[in-house]
Amino acid sequence: MAKILALDSGTTSVRAMVFDERGRELGMCQQEIQQAYPHTGWVEEDPMEIWDKQMRVCAQLLKQLNMEAREIDCIGITNQRETLVAWDRTTGKPIYPAIVWQCRRTEAYCGQLKERGLTEWFQTKTGLIPDAYFSATKAAWVLQYVEGAREMAARGDLLFGTIDTWLIWNATGGKTYATDYSNASRTMLFNIQDLDWDAEILEFFGLSRDNLPQIYESGADYGVVRSDILGAPIPITAVLGDQQSALFGHLCLEKSEAKCTYGTGAFILANIGQKPIASKQGLLTTVAWGYKGRVDYAFEGSIFMAGAVVGWLRDNLGIIRKASDTEAMATSVPSSEGVYFVSTFQGLGAPWWQNGRRASIQGMSRKTNGNHIVRAALESVAYRVRDVVGAMEREMGMPCKTLRADGGMTANHFLMQFQSDILQIPVSTGTEAEVTALGAAYMAGLAGGVWRDAAELAGFVAEAERFYPQISAVAADELYDGWLEAIGISAKEIT
Ligand code: G3P
Repeated sequence: MAKILALDSGTTSVRAMVFDERGRELGMCQQEIQQAYPHTGWVEEDPMEIWDKQMRVCAQLLKQLNMEAREIDCIGITNQRETLVAWDRTTGKPIYPAIVWQCRRTEAYCGQLKERGLTEWFQTKTGLIPDAYFSATKAAWVLQYVEGAREMAARGDLLFGTIDTWLIWNATGGKTYATDYSNASRTMLFNIQDLDWDAEILEFFGLSRDNLPQIYESGADYGVVRSDILGAPIPITAVLGDQQSALFGHLCLEKSEAKCTYGTGAFILANIGQKPIASKQGLLTTVAWGYKGRVDYAFEGSIFMAGAVVGWLRDNLGIIRKASDTEAMATSVPSSEGVYFVSTFQGLGAPWWQNGRRASIQGMSRKTNGNHIVRAALESVAYRVRDVVGAMEREMGMPCKTLRADGGMTANHFLMQFQSDILQIPVSTGTEAEVTALGAAYMAGLAGGVWRDAAELAGFVAEAERFYPQISAVAADELYDGWLEAIGISAKEIT
């Protein structure tokens, strides 16, 4: 019986899961990760805490399952992306806290890059639009502001890495200093055409290859975990950024197959095949994964407010007690009666990219009550997903046939049904909740010899539910047009 250990190092928690050779989850352990906010807009984490807790949950899980480390065939790692760690090659100690993907400290600098007309230069090379979100300007910040960093870098003693690299380096006792294509493609330093660090961009930010990891395919030999850590030298055979891992976990292996992970925000990715396409519709292009010489690319669009909308209804407006109240309230009224909840608390992200907007509730009448507002809030998530999926379809020149969904909000049947209605395609949820970890386990098992090819994975996860559109295309367009009007986007912009 094969067993694969998946490590999911997320932003707010680290998890370990074991899957068997039928992709069944045998158990899970999880610990929270602390975040620090030293200044407005800054977000940091402690790299040692991430590493310690990540190993601790692995050890706990093995104990819980009464399993020996030598029973594990291989490990797959998936992780929060973009977050940057800088550490000393000799001591192995971080020289600064991890700068988390959410951290906005380099926002002004990124604004300057755009003003200098460099957006297209970065986009053509990396698939990304200059933003504080990505690792590149975080690394440039460390070099500039952390005392001694530049000198250390010049001596070759400073190592930069995303969380995957940090975990692998520690797990292998410093033997493997590597990342994979999917993580590298979120740094804004990686050329997605050449599949290598981009020499001109490195020079631009004053970075050198000596301070950056080697880049492997997502399914590859990443070395073995030191035997004193878990009790056996387990090979690490896969590394994937968490959103790409979820796309793989949903087996979106063909062009136009798309997934949405409904968390605090929502991450929508669509497989676009084996060629990178630069988006003209405000989407990011990223490597989905590389395995056995084949590289799949994806479009990505994220929305900032998904589950966070429900949190706002509970914590700020106080009209629900718990998230699960929303479904009954939303279905207690036949429609939102023209109310639109414009959830742009943090600006309007992909594909419109309008910073600095405020949120609003529009279209209220004397009849409007809390149920309408709750319903409109849930509907706003579905409309935002259509904004992104619509842009993906226009860019690919083909429709998405089904949207695979995962994440906490998939428990909300009203939202899933409305999502299907508004997209006019089926929305499908699976029986495995931890699709992100599953993707890493799949890739690890493929590269570790548990399975021969991805065709073997089909059918491991049963479909839990499938929601079909229950309103006409005309009705869906009418509702969506109302949304576009509410957010101030003219129909011309979506042709
Ligand atoms: O790009 C950020 C993303 O990778 C973080 O994911 O699930 O840790 O919030 P998560």
